[in-house]
Amino acid sequence: MASATPAPPETVLVVDFGAQYAQLIARRVREARVYSEIVPSTMPVAEMLAKRPRAIILSGGPSSVYAPGAPAIDRALFEAGVPVFGMCYGFQLMAITLGGTVDNNGRREYGRTPLAVGLTGSTLFEGTPAEQSVWMSHGDACSAAPEGFAVTASTDSVPVAAFEDDERRLYGVQYHPEVMHTTHGQQVLEHFLYRGAGIEPTWTTHNVVEEQVAAIQRQVGDKRVICGLSGGVDSAVAAALVQKAVGDQLTCVFVDHGLLRKGEAEQVEKDFVAATGVRLKVVDAQERFLTALAGRTDPEEKRKIIGREFIRVFEQAASEVVAEAGEHGEAVEFLVQGTLYPDVVESGGGTGTANIKSHHNVGGLPEDLQFQLVEPLRQLFKDEVRKVGEELGLPSEIVWRQPFPGPGLGIRIIGEVNGPRLDLLREADAIAREELTAAGLDRDIWQCPVVLLADVRSVGVQGDGRTYGHPIVLRPVSSEDAMTADWSRLPYDVLARISTRITNEVADVNRVVLDITSKPPGTIEWE
Ligand code: XMP
Repeated sequence: MASATPAPPETVLVVDFGAQYAQLIARRVREARVYSEIVPSTMPVAEMLAKRPRAIILSGGPSSVYAPGAPAIDRALFEAGVPVFGMCYGFQLMAITLGGTVDNNGRREYGRTPLAVGLTGSTLFEGTPAEQSVWMSHGDACSAAPEGFAVTASTDSVPVAAFEDDERRLYGVQYHPEVMHTTHGQQVLEHFLYRGAGIEPTWTTHNVVEEQVAAIQRQVGDKRVICGLSGGVDSAVAAALVQKAVGDQLTCVFVDHGLLRKGEAEQVEKDFVAATGVRLKVVDAQERFLTALAGRTDPEEKRKIIGREFIRVFEQAASEVVAEAGEHGEAVEFLVQGTLYPDVVESGGGTGTANIKSHHNVGGLPEDLQFQLVEPLRQLFKDEVRKVGEELGLPSEIVWRQPFPGPGLGIRIIGEVNGPRLDLLREADAIAREELTAAGLDRDIWQCPVVLLADVRSVGVQGDGRTYGHPIVLRPVSSEDAMTADWSRLPYDVLARISTRITNEVADVNRVVLDITSKPPGTIEWE
């Protein structure tokens, strides 16, 4: 079924020419408080225009405009009266499509490059310095702008590094304004949006809440809705939006598998409920998970067991919610899912039917439970989801929670998982989190798994006696997207405090070690 959300009126389309930059451009546009959406460059221009965009941005791309099969753009795009901003590949396409010259002068530019702005009062460059640093990534270069364009900037190797035609409202830059290495990139982008295209910066997460609440009400009507909560930010924010829209028609299900960190189950069961007033069904499945995991040490096997048990417990709970509603003559027709915009873009922008992803481990519902999906976060990036969560008054521990794997502490105990080991790891993890928070480092690092090497022991000395305890591993990492990561250079005094407290306060732990492996070759989680 189609997404519940109509596009807001002031939309900027980002045409994706296949580089990794389109998502970043879309985010930068939204940081400028203008709504943006990504469309593939294969979309016919008529279809783009049918979306009634207020402006169009052509992204960079990996290829030369002269490479065989390089994506092109229909000239009609530039003749529709919609303001257009071409960046890098998009800039070159604009140049050749409108009659300028792009050639391969053999002088490639990659990386940070000085840009000389010739027309500092121009629409794009007003108020920016005559010399600025920009991020380049190209082989071909524009040597002559199309007729009607003023050349506004150049570099040592590129005579036409930026141009604009205010009359037709067409703008372009050879470089990447969206990357942070371009010193005035955001300012230039905002000049295009506000001055070039005349768009007002009005898009905020407050609008998102209002729009989504109205859209959910239209989609759901008076039917009942179910939502699985994982303790993570996406499902919590999605549930809170649906709760705001349809109140008690929503029932949330929280499976407590006993593998969450200290205080997290309580955050869902008490704080989330207190903040939202949501109707919550808690399934205490701790014993069931421990029994299923007994004697298991292989990481993949542990993951599969946790995933399988989770689905079974969630299915059972969902059937009970459906049956209870049925007794009152009501049907549960909708399932909430916390799908985010990057998932939508990466899966080709398709709209969902009841094909539940394994995301958050709410996966693989049985075929006789057919739900339509409610996906109120489909337009949002992660940082926007957090802002919506704050807007909805969710506890900051939930809104700012760092990524945490669905299988939880089960894959942070290296060896067999059992109750005492979980208690031990929960204590050590709570100390590490407390100290990182106290040092103000939560938002500097991506996440910090704390790992128990349950099958390893080493000799130590404490008080007057010999100890033979377990090591705890700290795995603080910095990352943009978890695909790659580097170990975080935490201050020594913070590491020292964590180490002292864990070895003093957690029985049976006599050593704390730091994981200094990047990803690759190491993954973030140990299992
Ligand atoms: P790795 O260990 O593959 O982790 O470098 C990358 C990111 O994904 C998280 N992670 C998971 N998240 N279910 C999840 O929802 C899982 O099974 C899972 N395994 C790893 C991990 O915490 C890191 O942020």
